[in-house]
Amino acid sequence: MNHVPDPCIFVLFGATGDLTRRKLMPALYNLHRDKLLPERFAVCAYARKPKTDEAIRQEMREHVTQYSRRAPDADWDALASRIFYVQGEFNDDQGYVRLKERLEQLDKELGTGGNRVFYFAVDSEFFVEITGRLAKNGLLVHSRIRHQPQTRDDHPRGWTRVVLEKPIGHNLHSARELLSNIAQHAAEDQVYRIDHYLGKETVQNILALRFGNCIFEPLWNRGYVDHVQITVAEDGGVGSRAPYYESAGALRDVVQNHMLQLLCLVAMESPGTMRADDIRNEKVKVLRNLRPMSIPQVAQNTVRGQYGPSAGGKLPGYRQERDVDPQSNTETFVALRCYVDTWRFAGVPFLLRTGKRLPRRTTQISIHFRVPPLQLFEDAPMLATCVGNVLRIDIQPEEGVSMDLAAKIPGAGMRLQTVSMDFDYARAFKRQTPEAYERLLLDAMSGDATLFTRDDEVIAQWEFISPILDAWAALPTPRFPNYPAETWGPDDALRLVPPCAQGWHLR
Ligand code: BG6
Repeated sequence: MNHVPDPCIFVLFGATGDLTRRKLMPALYNLHRDKLLPERFAVCAYARKPKTDEAIRQEMREHVTQYSRRAPDADWDALASRIFYVQGEFNDDQGYVRLKERLEQLDKELGTGGNRVFYFAVDSEFFVEITGRLAKNGLLVHSRIRHQPQTRDDHPRGWTRVVLEKPIGHNLHSARELLSNIAQHAAEDQVYRIDHYLGKETVQNILALRFGNCIFEPLWNRGYVDHVQITVAEDGGVGSRAPYYESAGALRDVVQNHMLQLLCLVAMESPGTMRADDIRNEKVKVLRNLRPMSIPQVAQNTVRGQYGPSAGGKLPGYRQERDVDPQSNTETFVALRCYVDTWRFAGVPFLLRTGKRLPRRTTQISIHFRVPPLQLFEDAPMLATCVGNVLRIDIQPEEGVSMDLAAKIPGAGMRLQTVSMDFDYARAFKRQTPEAYERLLLDAMSGDATLFTRDDEVIAQWEFISPILDAWAALPTPRFPNYPAETWGPDDALRLVPPCAQGWHLR
């Protein structure tokens, strides 16, 4: 479904940051090119440095040139003429006063009707500050009180939404605090928490695969599924993000959000409808049924790693990266085994693995089915291991779904070999896949919260993750570094995989 957003102004905090450069501006440009933005629309960038409208337009053009999937063409000028700049500090009311004046002026000139998306592409330490200042200066009106104006003059027009990037908190306690501070100024239906994995086409396709086809449902349970593996592997290191990453680590950075979302989509029950809350209710149930781990269980079911220099020393180790403490104990790799205690999946191991500086960038989910009950064929490849057919969902960079089957090798005798039945996005659809942010920005402007994380989802994610962090703090730290860059992480991670599954599975 293509949503047609209301006229609105997209207010960008953190307009000079990395996210704006790499993701947000290219996404807005591609939406503009596909004619998916409302006709009455503006971008208002807010940041600290003094700058003219012309200067920010020029910068944005450069970002689009460098990072967009399509280079700016003749269409660019029409979008550029609707980009504006307001200078201000996050903690200075004067800036917000200027912002308010500018937005009201733009409403008059462009007919944007008082509708605003406030996008916080900033460090999460500023979330509460910005939300509070927006509210204090009459820019953010709680939707609960929107329809109860006290006087004619304070009747607010239009809707206001806030879009937050992760991290939402550092642990369960800080997440609760952050959510409740923001909730003072914005109702849940105004807050859109981005998990950009949910915007990926291949991630949304998990629901299509499971609930748009009948053939999988009867098999999608503990009776047929032996175990599930989810890998989010990155070849890149920490790059320029050490100041953030040092206090985050792989568990908070990727497992707490992206990987648990993938797990939810695999393990959830069918929602009654595709409405946002029906889907999110089912995901919350999965999260709440994740079996909590005690300290000994964390020791048994998790493996932490940190990369050292690559063999030959071409790539530095994590501790040698810019802005990283040379004694750092931050994990850049996590493997964990967990269980979803539902009727459907009780006892089925879910194996999660993520890391930086692994040999290649790939995100894959594989559902490993049980072996056939009778051994009718000699040399059957499936029987050599304790997993049978594998359904693989390639999230990125390959995009597709494939199924491993046993097939007879042509010729005499009855020898079998594993073959693969493939669906490949590029071949099937012959069009470029939009970036996750394109879909997410459009949905936030359209008021569709399906692909955003609800407050109780965030809490349920932390309820599972926080005890692991606490247990790690209580357990002895592994001797880091414990895997060389460009390898698949510490060998110890192998012990989490069922013994005869022949290790972590990757295409
Ligand atoms: C971000 C993490 O949320 O996701 C990064 O903060 C990580 O550390 C990134 O690199 C991975 O996203 P993608 O879309 O490249 O898989």
